Amino acid sequence: MTLANFGLYGLGTMGTALAHNIAETGFDLHVASYKKEDMDSFVAAAPTFKGDFTGHDSLANMIRDMPAPRAIIFLIPAGQAIDDAIAAAKPHMLPGDVLIDAGNSDFQDTRRRAADLEASGLAYMGMGVSGGEFGARTGPSMMVGGTASVWEAMRPMLEAISAKFEGVPCVDHVGSDGAGHFVKTMHNGIEYADMQLLAESYGLMRRGLGMTTAEIGAEFVRWNDGPMRSYLVEISAEVLQTVDPKTDKPLVDVIVDTAGQKGTGRWTAIEAQKLGVAAGTVEAAVGARVWSAGREAREVGEEIFAPARGAVDLTPAQMEQAALAARIIGHSQGFDLLASASEEFDWHLDLSRCAEIWRAGCIIRSDLLSGIAKAFRNAPPAGLLAYAPEMAATLKDTVPVLRAVVSAAISAGHPVPVMTAALAWFDGMTQARGTADLIQGQRDFFGRHGFARVDGGTGHHGPWAE
Ligand code: 6PG
Repeated sequence: MTLANFGLYGLGTMGTALAHNIAETGFDLHVASYKKEDMDSFVAAAPTFKGDFTGHDSLANMIRDMPAPRAIIFLIPAGQAIDDAIAAAKPHMLPGDVLIDAGNSDFQDTRRRAADLEASGLAYMGMGVSGGEFGARTGPSMMVGGTASVWEAMRPMLEAISAKFEGVPCVDHVGSDGAGHFVKTMHNGIEYADMQLLAESYGLMRRGLGMTTAEIGAEFVRWNDGPMRSYLVEISAEVLQTVDPKTDKPLVDVIVDTAGQKGTGRWTAIEAQKLGVAAGTVEAAVGARVWSAGREAREVGEEIFAPARGAVDLTPAQMEQAALAARIIGHSQGFDLLASASEEFDWHLDLSRCAEIWRAGCIIRSDLLSGIAKAFRNAPPAGLLAYAPEMAATLKDTVPVLRAVVSAAISAGHPVPVMTAALAWFDGMTQARGTADLIQGQRDFFGRHGFARVDGGTGHHGPWAE
């Protein structure tokens, strides 16, 4: 069965953009919002877009007035607002109707909600949507979680409104219950690492290489013609080349250097810890946002220590190579998380498909993703993207440059946390015998935790001196 009656609840920036996309693609659309002013603006803007819609003054009235079976898409803040909307919708829903959460929800909430609704015979879909306002309006990348039958019912509409990569829709059913929101959260974790990586590259080129913002912008334009090509490099170039009309200064110079965060990067780092996966690049990126927010403390720190930040003897081309190495390692960690969660939650995620649906429409879209899709099709050694032959060949060339960049940056006092974390992961993961022999010795010494011996057996102890 295919669903044809769509209702969208929540007309903020993303909701409005997605509503316009759905209506203009030719689907009948009903809309409602929990904010009257959002509904008023939507109605006022109606003459500026092609599609048709029917407006309603509440979620309940919208559902009641729509012919069944209905698909109701929520674009409202994650958390309690979703539970409240479900409670308001549920009494008016009939078997065959579907509720879709298209926001950035915590996947564990989605698992709980899907189980509750499915137990009452209703269908629930947790769908990650990426691409920001422009993506939602012109074609987002979408990661669908839920039952296969709900996906089939929604598929024609979702494929029609999605971004396309060489004609292939950037939307797919990735797994049951919370899988869609988990994949979107991991997308955002990779997004955090990639954004921070570009910010570090910018910082080092500016303060270490002495380049102007316009020169760095032009350098990013050059990167965007090579293996680093991506949406984030493209917009970084634009941001750096924009001049503030009020002061005639580079716009970045009048933007306060404290980064916000809504939580998905932090959730990625938390899930990595819970799943026992090393995701140092994401953790470093979240940490960097946290210290960016401590602006006053940073000012005090600079006053107390007055650190000298010197020039670095690097070229922009080396920066590009280093960024490529760190990007591959960041993605490797993100996909490792996807693989672990897939096993833990029995989602059977197809990692190649995840890479493919990120090739257009989403924030981390990049040339690298086609290579990632191919790498996972050929089952990389130990399941790690970084070990796939094509990725390993690139890392063999670029990691020595990453090492030179990180060494130079650290020696000269420039913080490069994501690059450092990427290099540390690489060094740790390419050392067959590490240093945890001492950790095991320490654990056994103070707590009789036992250790395995290289010549056989587990649960050995000591001998330790008293
Ligand atoms: C996207 C974005 C989008 C948004 C996130 C991150 O894929 O379209 O990831 O979902 O930018 O909410 O926001 P924060 O940087 O505020 O955490």
